[in-house]
Amino acid sequence: MIIICPSCKKQHRIDEKRLSERVKAAKCVFCGHTFAIRVDKPGEPFRTPGPPPAAAEPEGMRKIAVSLSKGGVGKTTTAVNLAAGLALAGFNVLLVDTDTQGQAGYMLGVKPKGGLTELITGELTVDECLFKARERLWLLAGGKSLAGVKRLIARKDFRGELTLQEALSPLDDRFDFAIVDTSPGWDVLTINVLFYANEILVPVSLEVMALQGLLEFTKSLASVQAYHGNLDLKFVVPTFFDKRVKKSDEILEQLHSYYNSRLCPPIRYNVRLSEAPGFGQTIYEYAPGSPGAKDYRDLIRKIAANEKLLT
Ligand SMILES: Nc1ncnc2c1ncn2[C@@H]1O[C@H](COP(=O)(O)OP(=O)(O)OP(=O)(O)O)[C@@H](O)[C@H]1O
Ligand SMILES: [Mg+2]
Repeated sequence: MIIICPSCKKQHRIDEKRLSERVKAAKCVFCGHTFAIRVDKPGEPFRTPGPPPAAAEPEGMRKIAVSLSKGGVGKTTTAVNLAAGLALAGFNVLLVDTDTQGQAGYMLGVKPKGGLTELITGELTVDECLFKARERLWLLAGGKSLAGVKRLIARKDFRGELTLQEALSPLDDRFDFAIVDTSPGWDVLTINVLFYANEILVPVSLEVMALQGLLEFTKSLASVQAYHGNLDLKFVVPTFFDKRVKKSDEILEQLHSYYNSRLCPPIRYNVRLSEAPGFGQTIYEYAPGSPGAKDYRDLIRKIAANEKLLT
């Protein structure tokens, strides 16, 4: 039988008959990385602990950056409700807030003492930086202190763009998904997020200015993709969809012609989505029957490629 090291991806040939069910971890002889394994039954293949049975089995942790330079398009709303919905569906989820506004914690109604800054500077241990915001949902909080992290990255002579990836690498095997919220604009931290992620989800509000923003963003993205070939703009999520607004349908059509299957079902304009953060609740807690909750559940099914999730 062959198992693959989740860190260096090297293959190991193992004699399964010599393994007992008590074996819980393996160490890669190539890179020294230790990772969790599970022997299901003697004689049957074993694998690293995966998502619950209802979910499609992913290959390692999926790292999704929620990003667009334009402000106010629904990045944080999408990152928080996507992460919370995936956790409700049974996945272990890490939500990383890379924005100095620190709104992910606010939206979840939590105030962690440490977060991403302390993880990068090494002031706190990984476990001290992680905050359990909900069942299966862990937050690495953002906030004002990230301004210092940006200066720290800017001062680095080498590998500044890999700072986030290096800081988050101990968490690679602990979650099924990492959802990374980004700040508006384009700075060293945005570039770090794009070097860390392997998938990008772009929320685009259905207005002409946001389309223009998407065009600019894809140009900047190409400059990162030149060095990070595995980075894929995988999902375009139309937000603030309002049938009464003439342009909404037209822009949706345009997006469809550009992005085809990468275009996700739209998130409608829904006032419940803007009210929920005031109560520190996700949309599933605040208004589970609302159009906003339904739209985010549809989005989760598309992203997890499993139509049965959260039904
Ligand atoms: N579909 C929606 N319907 C109604 N209001 C929404 C919707 N999505 C987001 N909002 C509200 O719109 C505002 C902007 O959303 P959000 O903060 O998620 O955008 P953002 O892209 O993260 O902004 P920034 O670029 O400043 O980080 C918030 O007040 C949010 O509650
Ligand atoms: Mg935001």
